[in-house]
Amino acid sequence: MEAITTREFVISDYDAVIALWNEADGIEICEGDSREEIKEYLQRNPGLSCVAETEGKIVGAALCGHDGRRGWIYHLAIAPTHRRQQIGKLLVDSCLNGLRAVGLRRTIILVADDNPGGHKFWLRNGFENIDGAIAMTREL
Ligand SMILES: CC(C)(COP(=O)(O)OP(=O)(O)OC[C@H]1O[C@@H](n2cnc3c(N)ncnc32)[C@H](O)[C@@H]1OP(=O)(O)O)[C@@H](O)C(=O)NCCC(=O)NCCS
Repeated sequence: MEAITTREFVISDYDAVIALWNEADGIEICEGDSREEIKEYLQRNPGLSCVAETEGKIVGAALCGHDGRRGWIYHLAIAPTHRRQQIGKLLVDSCLNGLRAVGLRRTIILVADDNPGGHKFWLRNGFENIDGAIAMTREL
């Protein structure tokens, strides 16, 4: 199997990561995902977002940050050619360790209800459903 390495997501990875997100079912490119916004997000949350690489090619990425109270992981995606090789778990572990290192004690993710594979992945990685809560949002 090819060697997989992980490292910090830096803004020069943007084009490769956007291509990865675009080809992944279960990821919706949305407001906050422009190059400038991702650059600001990475600067605001240094060392938390990560990519996985093999032979110089990005095959996985996750955005991770926090608001001082809860950690958030967004847009975790692994290239379809590289799934079920524990790369998703590797990136999530990296995100969780980074959040712990800055003193966070809980993190939140949102999974679309038509993404059963993604849901099983998060359950397998220790995440729980938030029973009794309804996720809500509002455009600003
Ligand atoms: C979800 C995703 C990130 C998982 O990445 P991955 O590298 O394939 O996952 P891992 O190999 O680390 O999986 C770890 C465990 O999670 C579970 N799992 C992962 N993908 C699964 C799937 N599609 N269906 C059921 N269980 C799954 C398995 O228990 C797996 O262990 P196993 O392979 O030994 O059975 C990847 O499928 C993906 O990019 N999907 C499209 C984007 C997406 O849905 N992202 C999540 C948005 S919330």
